[in-house]
Amino acid sequence: MGVPRLSWVCLLCFQATVSTVTGSDTMSSLLTRVLLLLLFILEDLQTTGASCDCSASTCRCGGLSLTTIPQDLPTSITSLYMEYNNITELRMPDFSRYRNLSSLSLPDNHLFVIRSRAFYHLTNLTSIDLRWNKLTSLKADTFVGLGGLQALNLDYNNISSIDEGTFSETPKLVHLLLGSNRLTSISPGSFTGLNQLQLLDLFSNQITYIQPGTFSNLPQLKHLYLYQNRITNIHQHSFSNLPQLQLLSLFSNKITEIRLGTFTDLPRLQELDLDFNHITNIQSGAFSNLSQLEYLGLGHNQMKVPLLTTICHELSSVPTLILTNNPWQCDCRIVSLNLQDQTCQSCPREIMDQIICTEPAKFRTQKLKDINVADLNCTETSKANSATSASHLQHSPNMLTLYLLLSVLALLLET
Ligand SMILES: *[C@@H]1O[C@H](CO)[C@@H](O)[C@H](O)[C@H]1NC(C)=O
Ligand SMILES: *[C@@H]1O[C@H](CO)[C@@H](O)[C@H](O)[C@H]1NC(C)=O
Ligand SMILES: *[C@@H]1O[C@H](CO)[C@@H](O)[C@H](O)[C@H]1NC(C)=O
Ligand SMILES: *[C@@H]1O[C@H](CO)[C@@H](O)[C@H](O)[C@H]1NC(C)=O
Ligand SMILES: *[C@@H]1O[C@H](CO)[C@@H](O)[C@H](O)[C@H]1NC(C)=O
Ligand SMILES: *[C@@H]1O[C@H](CO)[C@@H](O)[C@H](O)[C@H]1NC(C)=O
Repeated sequence: MGVPRLSWVCLLCFQATVSTVTGSDTMSSLLTRVLLLLLFILEDLQTTGASCDCSASTCRCGGLSLTTIPQDLPTSITSLYMEYNNITELRMPDFSRYRNLSSLSLPDNHLFVIRSRAFYHLTNLTSIDLRWNKLTSLKADTFVGLGGLQALNLDYNNISSIDEGTFSETPKLVHLLLGSNRLTSISPGSFTGLNQLQLLDLFSNQITYIQPGTFSNLPQLKHLYLYQNRITNIHQHSFSNLPQLQLLSLFSNKITEIRLGTFTDLPRLQELDLDFNHITNIQSGAFSNLSQLEYLGLGHNQMKVPLLTTICHELSSVPTLILTNNPWQCDCRIVSLNLQDQTCQSCPREIMDQIICTEPAKFRTQKLKDINVADLNCTETSKANSATSASHLQHSPNMLTLYLLLSVLALLLET
């Protein structure tokens, strides 16, 4: 940034020098004057900061291979941009001169350590951008002094541990971004006290389990991103007590089952993304309390068994429901349980069109609704199938009642 400015200034000086030269001057004295001017300008540039581009309120110091925070910038600055430099650590004295800073931007550096209370003097700071650095941990005293901080971006670091109480120093946070790090777990209470938090981003970490209470006491949380983690198990109360939550993104995890009670008390939830998981079972009623739901993604999962009854009963009013790329088995079970069920016959076309058979092989790529019951040899396997169906029916009171009624009927007919 400094270099083009220097040559431009020198060109002006050269022209000025040439224009004042009269016929009596020799070429060599002209050159001497130009060189002297050049030297003078170079010296002058060196004393006005490390070629940062500054106004009274803003300094732009991007891409200058700086290894420390320059200490010769205007103390009045409120914004400091330091992207693409070689800063490896931040210490408290680095910022003691710039107490009016409200925005600090340090993405794409080599930041490895933030020393204790490094931001202590920056009481007016509202946003810090620390993306694309090499931070490995956050200590309880890292953010001391940042009582007014609203946005903290730590995406694309190497953070594997966050001390308890780290964010109790920053109670005004609205956006907290921790995506693409190495977190394997989050202790319950990590985010407690963030009463203003609206967005929490934890995408692309290595989280395997969400403990109950992890996200409690976040009364303003609207968007929670947990996609691309390794979550296998969601505790029934993992997402309880989030009255403002609108978007919950859980795609690309390893979730196998959606249990009753997992998504209750989310009265504002509009978008729930569970695509690309390993879901084989959804307990009946699991989604029944989500009155505002507009999008539910269940594509690319492992749903084989006849979940269609649950889906048609509970989800037919969700405007966008994704069910594609599941290994639906269009065998006697699914046909007898679903096609003959009244609720499935009135199941919206948008849902039925997505149930594309994977098995048996002869029906692969066909839509379930297009299969003729007569094409299935249902009588020969009905015994085995009714056994497996019964075990599945454990979670479904409606189907259980139906099953019991049919059994009684069969007994009566036998006598
Ligand atoms: C910091 O901001 C305040 C209020 O705008 C102002 O009075 C003060 O002079 C500023 N400090 C510096 C060093 O410019
Ligand atoms: C800054 O970092 C780059 C890339 O890692 C490296 O090539 C360069 O030598 C460093 N420069 C300084 C001044 O440390
Ligand atoms: C912080 O900002 C407020 C205005 O938002 C200003 O009055 C105050 O002087 C600033 N404090 C410092 C230390 O710059
Ligand atoms: C991240 O940290 C791990 C050790 O926890 C280390 O092996 C790895 O090289 C680090 N990655 C980067 C990009 O710094
Ligand atoms: C639905 O939510 C309300 C309050 O949000 C709660 O009282 C009720 O128990 C929930 N129902 C189910 C079936 O979870
Ligand atoms: C039904 O079973 C019979 C005899 O087992 C077999 O010949 C026939 O191909 C089967 N039909 C289908 C559609 O699989």
